[in-house]
Amino acid sequence: MGLGIGLIGSGYMGKCHAMAWNSVATVFGDVERPRLVALADATEELASRHAKAFAFDRGTGNWRDLVADPDIDVISIAAPNQFHAEMAIAALEAGKHVWCEKPMATSLEDATRMRDAAQASGKTAILGYNYIQNPMMRQASRLIAEGEIGTVNHIRLEMDEDYMADPDEAFYWKSAATSGYGALDDFAVHPLSLLTVLHGRITSVVADMAKPYEDRPAAGGGRRAVENHDISQALFRTENGASGVLMVNRSAWGRKGRIAVQIFGSEGSILFDQERMNELQVFTRKDRSDTQGYRTLLAAPAHPPYQQFIPAPGHGLGFNELKVIECRELLRLIDGDKAAHVIDFDTGLEIERIVHATAQSAERRSWVEL
Ligand SMILES: NC(=O)c1ccc[n+]([C@@H]2O[C@H](COP(=O)([O-])OP(=O)(O)OC[C@H]3O[C@@H](n4cnc5c(N)ncnc54)[C@H](O)[C@@H]3O)[C@@H](O)[C@H]2O)c1
Repeated sequence: MGLGIGLIGSGYMGKCHAMAWNSVATVFGDVERPRLVALADATEELASRHAKAFAFDRGTGNWRDLVADPDIDVISIAAPNQFHAEMAIAALEAGKHVWCEKPMATSLEDATRMRDAAQASGKTAILGYNYIQNPMMRQASRLIAEGEIGTVNHIRLEMDEDYMADPDEAFYWKSAATSGYGALDDFAVHPLSLLTVLHGRITSVVADMAKPYEDRPAAGGGRRAVENHDISQALFRTENGASGVLMVNRSAWGRKGRIAVQIFGSEGSILFDQERMNELQVFTRKDRSDTQGYRTLLAAPAHPPYQQFIPAPGHGLGFNELKVIECRELLRLIDGDKAAHVIDFDTGLEIERIVHATAQSAERRSWVEL
């Protein structure tokens, strides 16, 4: 019998997790079909409606029902950031595996408690860093490991969207201090997850954070002061001797889903942009000087696990499919396959340390060593 699944939160990411749980066994034929046992949301009505729509057996307005349910083996956490620690720790202590959305937590103390709970439980606990699952990102990793661009010496990371670019966009949970520093927890963690798999650890950072708008329309009328920063930028150094730049902005008009990664080495460079997520640009100085230039690799069956979705090259995967791949990797890890390609709570805590060091640097206006 397949694993019993509980899902907390049925908004943007909850639906994405539900799609992954619904399709992982169809896409990856060697996986036992999970049983979608229960979905929890903030109200009974929302939970029941979405349980039906997402094919879960039942809905509940109390997420603790999932933690207490012996029929549930894995809990997906897709609720707002402020709940991640409490939910993940409760689930791990009840003997469940956990798939928690990013950011891990809103404080380093909570993230550390989550890591400790995962270690103590012996259960599998991973974070929703879906962008590392892109077959083109895996291709970039392979090329770098094989020395295609030589020794990496400079990295530029960006993540930009415009969903908070309008000064009259309503204040909601992402603008509250309870959700964290702002763009750092919301966005920076994603390119940092990519850096983790493509290159290595950051060892020092100097940063700045900015608020494009001081207040936003409040739910009850009037305007409410914005409690965190929609923009952050940092310079960093890595353990492997590279210098780098990290720039994130969730109020960047015109940018819809940009995660731009530029990696420069002694023999070439690799460029990627999530807005064109089925492409990788590769430059190598080994090409003849009169035909040198960036080559565009288009996602194809040669880039696993693309072929699990589509046998034809160049047809393209989408955002939600990265979650299906992540789901598959989670199941591999639960099965004891240590080579699974995921960010677990140990590595997730490393990313949180960078986030907090970056915020600390912005506050102190000086370099911080990690
Ligand atoms: N991995 C990614 O690419 C990605 C993308 C977007 C969001 N996220 C993360 O996913 C999480 C959810 O974000 P979202 O954009 O889906 O938010 P959302 O507002 O769309 O959905 C949040 C859901 O949680 C529910 N919820 C709120 N309080 C609850 C509670 N006490 N108990 C149970 N359910 C509760 C809400 O009703 C809603 O259904 C966040 O941590 C966010 O950072 C990750």
